[in-house]
Amino acid sequence: MTQLLRAEGIGVRFGGIRALDGVDLRLAAGEVCGLIGPNGAGKTTLFDVVSGIRRPDAGRVLLDGVEVTRRSPVWRARHGMRRTFQRQQLFGQLTVADNLLVAQEWRRGGADADRSGALLEACGLQAFSDAYAGTLPVGRARMVELARAAADRPRVLLLDEPASGMTAEERALLAATVRRLAEEDGCAVLLVEHNVAFVMELCARVVVLDLGSVLAEGTPAQVRADVRVREAYLGTHGEATHGEAQTPAHDSRT
Ligand SMILES: Nc1ncnc2c1ncn2[C@@H]1O[C@H](COP(=O)(O)OP(=O)(O)OP(=O)(O)O)[C@@H](O)[C@H]1O
Ligand SMILES: [Mg+2]
Repeated sequence: MTQLLRAEGIGVRFGGIRALDGVDLRLAAGEVCGLIGPNGAGKTTLFDVVSGIRRPDAGRVLLDGVEVTRRSPVWRARHGMRRTFQRQQLFGQLTVADNLLVAQEWRRGGADADRSGALLEACGLQAFSDAYAGTLPVGRARMVELARAAADRPRVLLLDEPASGMTAEERALLAATVRRLAEEDGCAVLLVEHNVAFVMELCARVVVLDLGSVLAEGTPAQVRADVRVREAYLGTHGEATHGEAQTPAHDSRT
C-alpha cells in the first residue's frame, strides 16, 4: 500500500508540558485509521502538526513522500490534505451548498456540482442544501463539515471527533460516507473519536495515544485486548455499553 502520510518522531512542547513525544504515524491510501486516547493525550495536537497549523519542535511530516513539515496549511490543503476541527468551524452565514462550494472554488472558479450533489445525498443533507449552516443542529452541522472536507476529493482526510453530537442514525451515515471515500476514492482517513465502539467498527487499524506517545497500535481486536490500553483508556470509557453512553464530558465544547 502507498504510504500517503507519514509523521516521524513528532515532538511538541507547551512550556513544561510534553504534548507529543516521538510520535510516529503512517497512513495508506484507502485506509481508515482510528486515533484514540484519553483527554489531553495529544490527538488534536498531532492533527495540528500534520495539517500544518502547528510547527513541531521535533520530527517531520511527509505527504506522499514529500517533506511538508515547513509547508503552510494552505499548501498542504492544495496538495490533497483536508481536516475538520474538534470545535465546529462552519461558515454559519452561508448555505450548506455554499459551504461545499467554498471548498472547491480555488481550483477552477466553480464547483463540481455532481460531486457536491452526491456528497449532500450521501450525508443526508439534500433537503438542507439551501439552509444556512448556522441554523443546523449539531449532528447535521458535523455532517456538513464532513461533506465540505470531502468536496475537493482529498487524498488525506483528518477528522477530529466527527461523530460528537451525532445521533446513532447520523453516525451510521458518517461511517458509510467515510467508508465510501476510502474505498471508492482511495482517500486515507485518520479519525479521532471517543466513541470507541464506533471507531472499532469503522476502522481497520487503531492507534492509541497516551501522554503524548503511541501506547499501542493494531487491529481493533488487538487494541481491545491490550492490557495497557485497557488501563489507560478503555477501562474509563465504558466499553461495556454501546452507542450514546460513551460520550465524554468534554463534548460540551462543540
Ligand atoms: N495551545 C496550547 N497551549 C498549552 N497547552 C496545550 C495547548 N494545546 C494543547 N495543550 C496541552 O497539550 C496536551 C495535549 O492536548 P490535545 O488537545 O492535543 O489532546 P487531545 O488528545 O486532543 O484531547 P481531547 O480528547 O480532550 O480533545 C494537553 O495536556 C493539553 O492541555
Ligand atoms: Mg482533541
